[in-house]
Amino acid sequence: MPINIQEILNETQGKNFDIFEKHINPVFTKVLRLIGFNRSWVRGEGSYLWDKSGTRYLDFLANWGVFNVGRRHPTIRNALQQVLDSDFPGWVGFDAPPLAAVLARELTKRTPGNLDTVYFCNSGTEAIEAAIKFARASTGRSCSVHLTKAFHGLTTGALSLNGEASFRRGFEPLLSGNFAVEPGDLDALEARLSKGDVACFVFEPIQGKGVNILSNEYLLSAQNLCRKYKTLMICDEIQSGMGRSGQFLACQWIEGLHPDIICLSKALSGGYVPLGATITRREIYNSVYDSMDRAIVHACTFGMGNLAMAAGLSALTVLDDENLLARSNETGERFRKGIEKMVPRFEFLKGVRQRGMMIGIEFGKPDSISLKAAWAMVNKIDENLFAQAVVIPLLDDHHILTQVAGHAVPIVKILPPLNIKDSDVDWFLNALEDVMVKLHKFPGPAWEVLMKIGNHALTIKQRENSSTTT
Ligand SMILES: Cc1ncc(COP(=O)(O)O)c(C=O)c1O
Repeated sequence: MPINIQEILNETQGKNFDIFEKHINPVFTKVLRLIGFNRSWVRGEGSYLWDKSGTRYLDFLANWGVFNVGRRHPTIRNALQQVLDSDFPGWVGFDAPPLAAVLARELTKRTPGNLDTVYFCNSGTEAIEAAIKFARASTGRSCSVHLTKAFHGLTTGALSLNGEASFRRGFEPLLSGNFAVEPGDLDALEARLSKGDVACFVFEPIQGKGVNILSNEYLLSAQNLCRKYKTLMICDEIQSGMGRSGQFLACQWIEGLHPDIICLSKALSGGYVPLGATITRREIYNSVYDSMDRAIVHACTFGMGNLAMAAGLSALTVLDDENLLARSNETGERFRKGIEKMVPRFEFLKGVRQRGMMIGIEFGKPDSISLKAAWAMVNKIDENLFAQAVVIPLLDDHHILTQVAGHAVPIVKILPPLNIKDSDVDWFLNALEDVMVKLHKFPGPAWEVLMKIGNHALTIKQRENSSTTT
């Protein structure tokens, strides 16, 4: 008997948090309840989500940058439907799947330098794992250098390159021989590379944490150093790629920057099927698969599946058909101008970091005495709290999903689909304006909600501290 998915969804509507809490992750549900993200979603389309009451939301979280072409895109669905309806076999295992070959060819056409070879996997972190292994095999070295505040995934190898101690805590020791340097600090980079044991320098051209746009000068100088000391450059485009930055890849904003390995995932899947890719040069790839008995020495069972490959091919088509690189730049600029116009009017609002549709809104210490006291008070409780004071009312009062851009950074990040309407931009800008007006009234109702959450966070923190000290 076929199962009735809609029936399961109907039956669990409104109860999903309870069931999830019982059988999956109760700590996560606690966080979601605290910040008001405990909604029951019933529908998603384009840049919108609907909850069970029929309320429409603007999804600028986009599953951390997966939905560059929006949800339920007809072109992606059509390609997937064709695969489902076809009797063409996937995952034969001992095979050279044609859709994978074509997607690899299409990807290498769009990447800078002479990258001509692709390894496919199922997630961002796996794409990074492959890149680390490829760099080690190709250079015969084992060390790597990453940047502070970096995020490259959470499997053990990728976690070794994480620039945030809180992610690594409890799982160490990880891979040995990983070193962090500050973005911009070329002396520190050279000091480490000059030891001659570094296989790879791994970076996000725009760091997801804080939307930190690395400068052209820094990355070109880092490339010179990597060439000088024979270290491979691994460019993590998992969040910034697929048109997010207004170029196909964010590294393409920098003329002459030619990474040796580029990792893609998230939006590459078109939003339905997990997919990751590690794109490199033939000689690097061949250093891994260097003999017949090592022909699949790095592989994964579910790599190169027909659904994932069709999703990837159709996602590339949508980028072209809808002219999404240009739209990403135009719409991103609309956001930037709108936010910049507000900066002089709101003391907490400090500026905007934007490239295409990767956008960080910066907050900081105000000038007036009463607001300064409010700022000091929330930051004393929790350094994440102020940004939550923006995220929570954007959701509660204006039905917009956004996120805090990492631990202890007063930055709210938005990653809207690249094909949103101008009216969606206006929806967001009007909402941000309203949230700012309310937060600049201290004391006031916006601060009361914040203090309630802050006290709760404080209790959790105290409990954690006491459990780590006993
Ligand atoms: C820049 C970057 N690299 C790697 C990853 C890891 O990707 P995944 O969650 O698919 O493993 C992420 C995920 O957020 C990311 O933003």
